Amino acid sequence: MEANARILAAALIFSSVNVLSLPGVAQALLYNNRYDGDQVIRLFPKTKEEAEALKNINEQVMVDLWQPSSIPSIKLGVVVDIHVPRSSSQQFFRLFLQTGIEFKILVSDLQGLMEKQSGSSPRLRRSSPLYSYEVYHSLEEIQSWMHQMNQTHSHLLYLFPIGKSYEGRPLFVFQLGKRSRRFKRAVWIDCGIHAREWIGPAFCQWFVKEAVQTYHSDPAMRRLLNQLHFYIMPVFNVDGYHYSWTTDRFWRKTRSNSTHFNCHGVDANRNWKVKWSSKGASLHPCSDTYCGPVPESEPEVKAVASFLRKHKKQIKAYISFHAYSQMLLYPYSYKDAIIPNFKCVESAAYNAVNALYSAYGIKYKHGPASSTLYVTSGSSMDWAYKHGIPYAFAFELRDTGYYGFLLPESLIKPTCTETTIAVKNITNHILKKCPLK
Ligand SMILES: *[C@@H]1O[C@H](CO)[C@@H](O)[C@H](O)[C@H]1NC(C)=O
Ligand SMILES: *[C@@H]1O[C@H](CO)[C@@H](O)[C@H](O)[C@H]1NC(C)=O
Ligand SMILES: *[C@@H]1O[C@H](CO)[C@@H](O)[C@H](O)[C@H]1NC(C)=O
Ligand SMILES: [Zn+2]
Repeated sequence: MEANARILAAALIFSSVNVLSLPGVAQALLYNNRYDGDQVIRLFPKTKEEAEALKNINEQVMVDLWQPSSIPSIKLGVVVDIHVPRSSSQQFFRLFLQTGIEFKILVSDLQGLMEKQSGSSPRLRRSSPLYSYEVYHSLEEIQSWMHQMNQTHSHLLYLFPIGKSYEGRPLFVFQLGKRSRRFKRAVWIDCGIHAREWIGPAFCQWFVKEAVQTYHSDPAMRRLLNQLHFYIMPVFNVDGYHYSWTTDRFWRKTRSNSTHFNCHGVDANRNWKVKWSSKGASLHPCSDTYCGPVPESEPEVKAVASFLRKHKKQIKAYISFHAYSQMLLYPYSYKDAIIPNFKCVESAAYNAVNALYSAYGIKYKHGPASSTLYVTSGSSMDWAYKHGIPYAFAFELRDTGYYGFLLPESLIKPTCTETTIAVKNITNHILKKCPLK
């Protein structure tokens, strides 16, 4: 950066511009050094005994599972990424080193990594009049962007609320596509069910931008927007996302109160009425995979489920965006079984990951969630499929764990570019028939 530019940058940052609306302020405090001395380690359990030992440790020590999201989901041959807070470090390593499980340190100083990323990102672009799609945005910024897009692209976009979150925030959804009086099939897309997976909302924003910007120049995009409607929910778990900006970068769940414990939140991807509260979900309110007191206990889940139920004739595909691990998953999550329309779903997924690869050579695994990732119950994807949406997918975006949830802003553009190609490829399939039975 030129010296002048640096002075200008400093002036802008420290001048009295409305500090609250200046994004990155929450980040600037960097969570009050909350992650100082925390580590992220990757484990390679190789035997049943090692996996058992790990489960025992997880019951005794507070650690934060990054991947997979719950210990009972551990399968042999699957790596396990664990965020070990400094406060648990001694106890954890004392028990862990006895197991002899092979491991490596992914991040030796989590706070340091966050500070490094925040220092290198182009903060300034946030306050420039041109909206940047290559930085992460706070909830407030995303919501004002939504309203702006709704105004400036009213020929293709229509923004509407489908309900309110636990903390009372509106749950906004875009209808994207050329207006039409006749019946149009539709694709549902949601991002940010899990708060800390920031690349999700960044992708939803990117996709909306790309659609309106290339409608006139790209015949493939035009065809999709003429023939289909997309319903796009850029931030599903608004309360959790907000909390991940202000208080805890690695928050995953919603923010609802539990009546019996002093723990907040339900895993919004375990709260759906499909094999609810069974494998891969927890009934303990303090668990990161807590399925909630009843199915659809979370207002966010209820609002989306109601919308999908109401538009079930129209919606032919459900696509949910998560991170990380580079996978394209389809049902089932809750059991090891082949779906009835396996052939066309599998071929859609196969083509999509190949299309994605063609952009930057990034490899995605694809397949049924239960065998490709792990078994989970009460997921939105299984629920959508069970409710008659023939194409149901979940993306696990970049990366494979080097940065994990802290995917640098410099990787937003390639990640979203390749994913947009994959989504366009998948939706082309949807224009063809794929009967459920
Ligand atoms: C989006 O714009 C339309 C006008 O084109 C307006 O009727 C609607 O209320 C706007 N949506 C929101 C959430 O403000
Ligand atoms: C949830 O619990 C917090 C305290 O942890 C309390 O301040 C808040 O009012 C509660 N909210 C609701 C809606 O019960
Ligand atoms: C989808 O991707 C596959 C694999 O790269 C490619 O052969 C096919 O032409 C693509 N289809 C569309 C419509 O983009
Ligand atoms: Zn997720």
